[in-house]
Parts: sequence; structure tokens; C-alpha cells
Amino acid sequence: VESPDQPDVRDLDDSEVARVCEFLGLARLDQGDGRYLVAWIGDVPVGHAYLTRTNPPNLQDVEVDEAYRRRGVARRLLDVVHSAALAQGARSIVLSVSARSLDAQSLYRSLGFEDTGTPPLEVRGTVQIRSGPIEVDDTLLTWEKKLAAPGEP
Ligand SMILES: CC(C)(COP(=O)(O)OP(=O)(O)OC[C@H]1O[C@@H](n2cnc3c(N)ncnc32)[C@H](O)[C@@H]1OP(=O)(O)O)[C@@H](O)C(=O)NCCC(=O)NCCS
Repeated sequence: VESPDQPDVRDLDDSEVARVCEFLGLARLDQGDGRYLVAWIGDVPVGHAYLTRTNPPNLQDVEVDEAYRRRGVARRLLDVVHSAALAQGARSIVLSVSARSLDAQSLYRSLGFEDTGTPPLEVRGTVQIRSGPIEVDDTLLTWEKKLAAPGEP
């Protein structure tokens, strides 16, 4: 039995979509190029992350329910993402992070992600996500984490 505070992270099953949507966005559900990993505490979905099957894999839509932040949920999710990427044969994980999201930057930095040096991407306009159109005016930074192959230091 897992401890009540230690989330259990697993692949999203189709039968769980409605339950997860009560708490989290699943904005990339219909993207079709990867999968969601969901962190559960009991029957409550407390966080999710989307990992693409591309090479290198992209990490997208990392979200933890506000009521469950700052307890290591994202750290645990990204630990499973790391294993999943290794299992896909990846040598690195790439992500985009908003220049404004200092919380997320601090999370990713603490886990070993670094800026790739790719010029910041200015994103402006209307973007369609599953829940409908949203207005975006943002600067995205490209960060990556290099993964050691099994047996490498
Ligand atoms: C960013 C986010 C996913 C972090 O989730 P979380 O479960 O609270 O993160 P954790 O508790 O696992 O934190 C792990 C580490 O990340 C860093 N961190 C996380 N939240 C932080 C914050 N608000 N301020 C500073 N550092 C933070 C810390 O180093 C933290 O370790 P510590 O608690 O031992 O100091 C969450 O705040 C969130 O969903 N934010 C909104 C969505 C978002 O910005 N997603 C990222 C899109 S790129």
C-alpha cells in the first residue's frame, strides 16, 4: 500500500479521462504523438505530464493541482518521465518553458535541465487547445536534460 502522500504515477487509461478532467487539463489528449503520465494520490489525480514518442522526446503539459503543489508531486512525475524516456531509447528530454514561469524553471533546473542555447521563441496569437481557443503572448525557452545511457556515469 502506497503512503497517502506518495503519489502513484502511471500511464493514463482511457477509462480515467473523465476523472482526470475533473482536476487537470489534459490539454494534449488529442495530440496523438505521445502519452500522459498521471500522478494519483488514492483516487485523486493530482498531476500529469505528457511525453512525446519523438526522438528526442518532448516533455509537455506538466501540471500539478494547486492544492497539491510543493509536496514533490512534479518531482515524482518527472522521475517516471525520465525512466519512460530511457525506456524509449532516448538520450535526452527536451521541453519548452515560458520565460515567465520561474516556478517551472526552478523545478526543471533542480532536475538537471539546462538551456540549449536555442534563441527564445516569441509566441503570439490564438492557439487552439482541447478546451477551446486561448490567447497567447509568451516567450518560450528551449531546455534539455541529457540522459546517461545504462552503464554510463
Ligand atoms: C511547476 C509545477 C508543475 C511544480 O509542481 P510541484 O508538484 O509543486 O513541484 P514539486 O513539489 O515537485 O517541486 C520540486 C522542486 O521544484 C522547485 N519548485 C517547485 N515549485 C516551486 C515554486 N513555486 N517556487 C520555487 N521553486 C519551486 C523546487 O526546487 C522544488 O523543490 P523543493 O520543494 O524541495 O524546494 C506546478 O507549480 C504547476 O503545475 N504550475 C503551473 C503549471 C506550469 O507552470 N507547468 C509547467 C509548464 S512548462
